Amino acid sequence: MKTQTTNLDAYGARLDFERAMSYGDYLDRDALLSAQHLRSANHNEMLFLVIHHVQELWLKLVLHELSAARERIKSDDLMPSFKMTARVSRILEQMVSAWGVLATMTLSEYLQFRGTLGNASGFQSYQYRLLEFVMGNKNAVVLRPHAHRPEIHAALEQELRTPSLYDEALRLMARRGSALPPEVIERDWAQPYHAHPAVEQAWLEIYREPETHWDLYELAEELIDLEDLFRQWRFRHLTTVERIIGFKQGTGGTPGVPYLKKMLDMVLFPELWKIRTAL
Ligand code: HEM
Repeated sequence: MKTQTTNLDAYGARLDFERAMSYGDYLDRDALLSAQHLRSANHNEMLFLVIHHVQELWLKLVLHELSAARERIKSDDLMPSFKMTARVSRILEQMVSAWGVLATMTLSEYLQFRGTLGNASGFQSYQYRLLEFVMGNKNAVVLRPHAHRPEIHAALEQELRTPSLYDEALRLMARRGSALPPEVIERDWAQPYHAHPAVEQAWLEIYREPETHWDLYELAEELIDLEDLFRQWRFRHLTTVERIIGFKQGTGGTPGVPYLKKMLDMVLFPELWKIRTAL
């Protein structure tokens, strides 16, 4: 059977970009596609590099959306914030499923180029740290690997001292009448959040009467979605790492899997999980 060439001219597609902005121009595609600097001749390093680039790009969008969502929560404008948090949850699903692609690389394949990474590790991903801070996992120590990059260090420092998404949700609840004490709504934002009985009580009131507090109830469910998916990301990272390097030490210097297992214990919105038992 003979295949026919489609006459693209007949569809009116623009084919001349001498004087018009093209797809590649708009995307700055050449910069994007020239950022894959392989450090070895190994076939599998391209996968390793691209997965990291993809995750960093998604992180960029996640931060863009969550910062905007937090601004909306601050101004008591919840509907647009739901659109953004829902988008972030869908992005996190993509980021979780990306581990399946990386897991096609075996231990033997990875070991052939692992030595070229030196001490480079996702541990030094400042966008991941910004995400942790926005989500409320505050820890000043993670700024230290960025001391040699003042602009990154400053961005992290600023986010460390900014109320997280959850802090802003609690401040909104207080403005709406929940009895939340100053140590919750005026705390030192650079410190990690600790569960408080007054917050649990406030969420319980919302979950007991969802119809009366519909938007706060929906906000709580959006937050649970985010934490659920963030946990899934950490879990899939851990299992992928164990599958590829077992209990070898990480290139970033930690013991590897035992460290990542410890990080799985992190709870970001504690009262939202607690009320599942209490209600
Ligand atoms: C073969 C693939 C991978 C291996 C073996 C691996 C291994 C590890 C290990 C052992 C750590 C602990 C820190 C250290 O000592 O290095 C770590 C941390 C981390 N990795 Fe990966 N990783 C891989 C892929 C990725 C990818 C694709 C990302 C995406 C950006 C990523 C992001 C991170 C982040 C954000 C941390 C810090 C986690 C925390 O401190 O809670 N990793 N990784």
